[in-house]
Amino acid sequence: MESDGLKRSEASRLYELDRTHWLHPQGDLDAPAGSVPQLIFAGGRGATLTDIDGRDYIDGMASLWNVNVGYGRTVLADAAAEQMKALAFSSAYGGFGTAPAIQLATKLAELAPGDLEVTYFASGGAEANDTAYKIARLYWKLRGEPGRVNIVSRIRDYHGLTYGATSATGLANFWKGFEPLAPGFLHAPSPDPYRYSGEGSAGAGYVQALEQVVLDAGPQTVAAVVVEPVQGAGGVIVPPNDYFPLLRKLCDKYGLLLIADEVITGFGRTGRWFGMENWNVNADLMIFAKGVTSGYLPLSGVMLTHAIHDTLKSVKGPFAHGFTYSGHPTACAVGLRNLQIIEEERLVERVAENGAHLQRRLQELRSHEIVGDVRGLGLIAGVEFVRDRESKQLFDPVSGVARRVWLAAMESGVIFRPLGGDVIATSPPFVITIKEIDRLVEVLDAAISTVSKQLKSHA
Ligand SMILES: Cc1ncc(COP(=O)(O)O)c(C=O)c1O
Repeated sequence: MESDGLKRSEASRLYELDRTHWLHPQGDLDAPAGSVPQLIFAGGRGATLTDIDGRDYIDGMASLWNVNVGYGRTVLADAAAEQMKALAFSSAYGGFGTAPAIQLATKLAELAPGDLEVTYFASGGAEANDTAYKIARLYWKLRGEPGRVNIVSRIRDYHGLTYGATSATGLANFWKGFEPLAPGFLHAPSPDPYRYSGEGSAGAGYVQALEQVVLDAGPQTVAAVVVEPVQGAGGVIVPPNDYFPLLRKLCDKYGLLLIADEVITGFGRTGRWFGMENWNVNADLMIFAKGVTSGYLPLSGVMLTHAIHDTLKSVKGPFAHGFTYSGHPTACAVGLRNLQIIEEERLVERVAENGAHLQRRLQELRSHEIVGDVRGLGLIAGVEFVRDRESKQLFDPVSGVARRVWLAAMESGVIFRPLGGDVIATSPPFVITIKEIDRLVEVLDAAISTVSKQLKSHA
């Protein structure tokens, strides 16, 4: 095995240098040494990642819900190399541009649902979120309603970790220590059909709860509502079917812009090109990132309707927003080639088919007493652990069941992701095979059995 990987001594040195010199994103800084699995990846092919010790893992997370076309796509490397050799980078400020960015913006207009026709490019999902919030505020100023500044987001939604996006994110663990948050962000409850106990439809109940937040603030102070079509990091929660149509109506009633954060759900993850298409609901602004390049290069953006674009054109002077890497030509060339792969290999259809298999197989996990809920759409799913099915009460956080299941599955060569609320998530590359899906579910099943036994023996 060692011949496939680095020599043992080189590998140990890398592990040590990593601990000494790299402050990792979302790193477990206070974790005792050795308690956090340290993996250094060196290669990948399809849905499989290989670490520097030569060990293979089925990547049940497509890294960070993003390597959708899978690892090892040399055509994407070729697209990058070709563009880099011609022109790696040049400014996109003002009237400057490059063919790949123009072509990608045009392609996105063709793919995106509803009236989303114009793209602003950025590099990461959080930057794109901040951009969307700034555009929403500017839009209302230009429309003569400068009081509309509040952005309503939802508890447990994740929008990234720049300051604006952190403030929109509805997960308090991302606020702690970094306060004060940016002003003008309000948080409403988000749908949780598994725990809904109100009267009538869960979708209507949760839209009413959001309406209350709008009414409390005063509708004339609200610029936009931002939503994840399927909540990812907050626990993989699929809303009830009536939720988004009702939310669209609510936005229309008060004149609020609806912003869809499709950073995870965009480009096929749910079995449709875009998540909101599952409910035939059109957004006014759409945020995308991850899947646009399948992570081969950083690229994100915000799509806007012509109506919003036309309003922005009334700004006096330049549009005072921009990043050096907005419309990066090499990233855009890779994005174009990646979308071509998704189309040519009919990967969205494949997600719908293989996703249905994944969802069906995961339902088998309900045979475990500690599994409270199993949910998902396409190739994104979550399994929620509970102490007691009747009350849906969670285990105390110290038990960290999802975390333990994650560790046990990793031992068996499958990578999942533990989320707050004791949920284990999966979101594999679109190219995962049925055989690999079966193995993924079997490993998860065995990991849950192992942890169930541990919990019983400590009870
Ligand atoms: C729904 C959603 N929005 C925004 C982001 C932030 O993207 P980035 O980490 O590229 O800034 C993420 C990242 O996981 C996400 O899942």
